[in-house]
Amino acid sequence: MTFIKMPDYSIYIEDKGLENLSKYIEEVYDYKDVFVVTDQTVYKLYHQRLIDALPDFRISFVIIEDGEKSKSIEVYQQTIEKLIEQGMKRNHLLISLGGGVVGDLAGFVAATLYRGVSYIQIPTTLLAQVDSSIGGKVAIDLKEGKNLIGAFYNPKFVLIDINFLKTLEKREYANGLAEMIKAGLIGDKKLYNYILENETVGIEEITRAIHVKREVVLADPFDHKERMYLNFGHTFGHAIEKTHGYDLYKHGEAISYGMLIALEIGVHLNETKPELYEEVKNLLIKRGLVKEPLLQLNDYKDEIKTDKKNLADGFHFILVTRVGEVKIKILKLSDLS
Ligand SMILES: NC(=O)c1ccc[n+]([C@@H]2O[C@H](COP(=O)([O-])OP(=O)(O)OC[C@H]3O[C@@H](n4cnc5c(N)ncnc54)[C@H](O)[C@@H]3O)[C@@H](O)[C@H]2O)c1
Repeated sequence: MTFIKMPDYSIYIEDKGLENLSKYIEEVYDYKDVFVVTDQTVYKLYHQRLIDALPDFRISFVIIEDGEKSKSIEVYQQTIEKLIEQGMKRNHLLISLGGGVVGDLAGFVAATLYRGVSYIQIPTTLLAQVDSSIGGKVAIDLKEGKNLIGAFYNPKFVLIDINFLKTLEKREYANGLAEMIKAGLIGDKKLYNYILENETVGIEEITRAIHVKREVVLADPFDHKERMYLNFGHTFGHAIEKTHGYDLYKHGEAISYGMLIALEIGVHLNETKPELYEEVKNLLIKRGLVKEPLLQLNDYKDEIKTDKKNLADGFHFILVTRVGEVKIKILKLSDLS
């Protein structure tokens, strides 16, 4: 078992972690009613395992449809109504069981229902395990854009069980791998080198990726400065997602193209070696995250102008100078050609 301590909660990273769930819950919660938010796929695959793992608890489920469309005001309201109908009270525990969509929605429900209830995160996708369940950001979308309503709200604990990854589709696995490649590039050379050589990851690599996010989040819990490092590849990634809608490219694919554009700019500014660009490009092609011809910066400039990271003094742009080392440069859009 691996254990990471955040200032006010723990992250357990385990093989067969569900077996310990009951014990971990009892450490933070005195009652026997738990309320689980999950999506249809995860419910089908895992509800029985969850029930078996919590023999002494009364479990109520709220099941949402799969996919980003469930991070909506409507589904948020329906989820809250169902929880109240099922008898959830202010001192009860909410469990988020699923990928980043479930985690973001359930976390926002937890942050707001009765002005805040306790919750735990059990992330079941690789992306949720290394990224969305860590750092306390929870949110839902508006038609005007993603994650526009949200909160910083920490869970009581995060339980990462790598067994969930066995049922994940290949494209979803790669989606999480993209965030791990990013974590390696911005903060952990050993992690990056491992992913260069290996197609799958285990407890050690997931732990390393979480450590990269942990360091950045702890330095900047409310996303004013250092957290920007986590946005490496995301400025263009978000522009790509917005331009094509959120269906054509998965987030990991969009940020993979975005990382290549960011590395290319680094090469152009003499901050990044061309060899690193080529190496990352070949890795992302091999893992099925990008295809040639690659997406080009010029096609997304208009979208980038409205990015919320475009601050008054220009773009705070994250460059990877070497694997594991980053630098913020303030650039104008006109510098990026
Ligand atoms: N809060 C944050 O800091 C943060 C960070 C990054 C991303 N996010 C958010 O995360 C979301 C994306 O999360 P995601 O990539 O996990 O997508 P997702 O939650 O939509 O899950 C992808 C698909 O995998 C299925 N699935 C989940 N676990 C499975 C399992 N073990 N086996 C088989 N199938 C499984 C789901 O049912 C779904 O169909 C986005 O909304 C994004 O905004 C949030």
